[in-house]
Amino acid sequence: MKDCKNYSLLRHNTFGIDAQCQRFLEYADEAEACQVAGVLRELTSPYIIIGGGSNLLLTRDFDGIVVHSAIRGIEQQGDGRIRCGSGEVWDDVVAWCVAHQLYGAENLSLIPGDVGASAVQNIGAYGVEVKDLIVGVEAVEIATGRLCSFSNADCQYGYRDSRFKHAWKNQYLITHVVYQLSTAFQPVLDYGNIRTALAEKKIDEVSAQALRDTIIDIRNQKLPDPAVLGNAGSFFMNPIVSREQYELLAKEYPQMPHYFIDDDHEKIPAGWLIEQCGWKGKSQGRAGVHDRQALVLVNRGGATGNEIVALCETIQRDVQQRFGIAIHPEVNVI
Ligand code: EPU
Repeated sequence: MKDCKNYSLLRHNTFGIDAQCQRFLEYADEAEACQVAGVLRELTSPYIIIGGGSNLLLTRDFDGIVVHSAIRGIEQQGDGRIRCGSGEVWDDVVAWCVAHQLYGAENLSLIPGDVGASAVQNIGAYGVEVKDLIVGVEAVEIATGRLCSFSNADCQYGYRDSRFKHAWKNQYLITHVVYQLSTAFQPVLDYGNIRTALAEKKIDEVSAQALRDTIIDIRNQKLPDPAVLGNAGSFFMNPIVSREQYELLAKEYPQMPHYFIDDDHEKIPAGWLIEQCGWKGKSQGRAGVHDRQALVLVNRGGATGNEIVALCETIQRDVQQRFGIAIHPEVNVI
């Protein structure tokens, strides 16, 4: 078990904020996860559990324990099932699947973060959510040190949501996630501009590798590289509004993009709402809004977490005033 005092979290958050924690604990297997659970039970210090730090905004030094998984390994279980260590980099898993002719994860290429976080956050992109692939999550219960195994249904998945974000928040240390891939390639091509991007590359018959490469190209065009410009991907979740509210807005803004949720609800892209408020490419202090995707807030260099929170609040206020819609961060603010 790695156990460090006064540890810098700079390498552990893609916003590039240099905050420290009092103690950093990292587990590399199930036995170490049980040990970490023991420490958390013994001490009364506050703690947070982080993944790749791609969904984290640090506004201060953390006067407590930060827990991180370093469990590695991708194990083939037959029939397209794989069991992955929670500390594996998610995109390495997607690359591994494509290389091993296991299909279904291509559209989730290049999403930053770890396997453990994929199961907490229900990461999603281009018409696929990871909940469609997850069959089980293994974890150590902090209160008892017991190894637990959860089914997909136990995790209560929703849009960017799971039980690990609510009733089970901070209760479990995830050790492994089991995904069910398909041995037959059935590409999902209907979201956004995937088909156009494939046509531009003159690809008629798409392979899993070509689809992965295309998704990577699309993401690279729209989303900033955290190594160059600190960011945490989508800063806000796309709001889901009532049909009544959607219809009123659609009359006023016929060009407004929207996605059907159910008979009573519609989802509106927060990036569009933010762009309409004039924020795309703009800055407030050292915090800014990305010029190619308004859903992404960026650290233009040396921004503090609080400067990014201040920009977030200004944007929330503007969107609320103009559209009457509350938008909420997807990012965890500490
Ligand atoms: N749009 C704008 N202006 C913008 C951004 C978007 O008008 O600045 C419009 C687009 O033209 C399009 C619609 O909004 O009509 C949707 O845009 P896009 O396809 O880029 O997706 P998104 O809804 O903005 C979501 C995810 C992304 C994911 C993409 C693709 C959330 C919070 N975000 O963004 O996820 O990559 O779909 O599937 O659901 C992430 O979570 O970090 C992330 C990047």
